[in-house]
Amino acid sequence: MGIDPDPNNEDNGDSASVLPSSAPNSFARETTQHEMLAPKLVGQERIVDELWDYLMTNDILRIGVYGMGGVGKTTTMKHLYNKVHGSAAFENVFWVTVSKDCSIHELQNKIARALMVPDLFKNADEGMRPTKLFRHLRRKKKCLIILDDMWQHFELADVGIPVKRDGVRLVLTTRYLDVCKKMLCQANIGVRALSDEAWALFVQTLGSYLTPSRKLVAEDIVEECKGLPLAIVVMAGSMRGEVEDHVWEATLENLKRPGVLEQSMKESVLPILVHSYNRLDKKKQLCFLICALYPEDSLIDRVELIELLS
Ligand SMILES: Nc1ncnc2c1ncn2[C@@H]1O[C@H](COP(=O)(O)OP(=O)(O)OP(=O)(O)O)[C@@H](O)[C@H]1O
Ligand SMILES: [Mg+2]
Repeated sequence: MGIDPDPNNEDNGDSASVLPSSAPNSFARETTQHEMLAPKLVGQERIVDELWDYLMTNDILRIGVYGMGGVGKTTTMKHLYNKVHGSAAFENVFWVTVSKDCSIHELQNKIARALMVPDLFKNADEGMRPTKLFRHLRRKKKCLIILDDMWQHFELADVGIPVKRDGVRLVLTTRYLDVCKKMLCQANIGVRALSDEAWALFVQTLGSYLTPSRKLVAEDIVEECKGLPLAIVVMAGSMRGEVEDHVWEATLENLKRPGVLEQSMKESVLPILVHSYNRLDKKKQLCFLICALYPEDSLIDRVELIELLS
């Protein structure tokens, strides 16, 4: 889901291509023109390099990137997008956020929007849609399509995506290796939790000095994040500007407490998100809950949101 930056801005369609990404999944949408805004990549540069190496060979046409939620797949892809965008090796790179429960029909529409041909299927019979897309994409030379956040596999022929050497190539991300395999990816890259770099990401996100005693507590807090970037940035974001030592200590205790959550959930990011949510004031909590009612990755109209809140 993303919040419409400014519905009255004439430049909206254009600036929609730029993805501020300080918050998870914020403003996610398709783009063809600009570089994507992305946080400075910490610890996962190797994945961009690996993907790049595959793209520089001409044999690997479909690449899968998989890993648990919040581990950094989308962030890494944004960096890949920018690298491809800035390279003469590709003529085009297109970004498509697929998301959960996306039908073939929706996926075709998303791709057409990313290609800047939203009317591609105008008056087309349902059965003709794959052919229309196929014929449009077949003309593309040295083109990369990034399909971010896939939850199920699609037959490329059903969608209308031709992949071939010197033509369209695919990189997709998903939480499940199985989806990569079913998509017949020739190379699959797993994105794993951070190890030593977790601390650097925390400090980068926090953006302020830590006293020696607070640093010790902060290190334990980072430990509790289990190397998951989403957990680290959420935690650092919620502790930003906090100068009371007892609050840092209480935060650590809170994270360590098994509480009502299942032991298995303790391993996950949920307690961290709960803690972050609890630190919001009531109005922001309500805002968060209303946003959660929108379908995943959908655009949220700023005015509508304000009306719902008032
Ligand atoms: N390597 C990284 N360097 C800096 N920040 C990162 C990194 N990886 C992730 N993040 C931060 O963590 C957040 C969550 O990461 P991201 O959205 O890329 O996860 P994801 O794997 O795509 O999750 P999902 O499966 O839910 O789509 C990002 O918004 C970003 O701020
Ligand atoms: Mg993602």
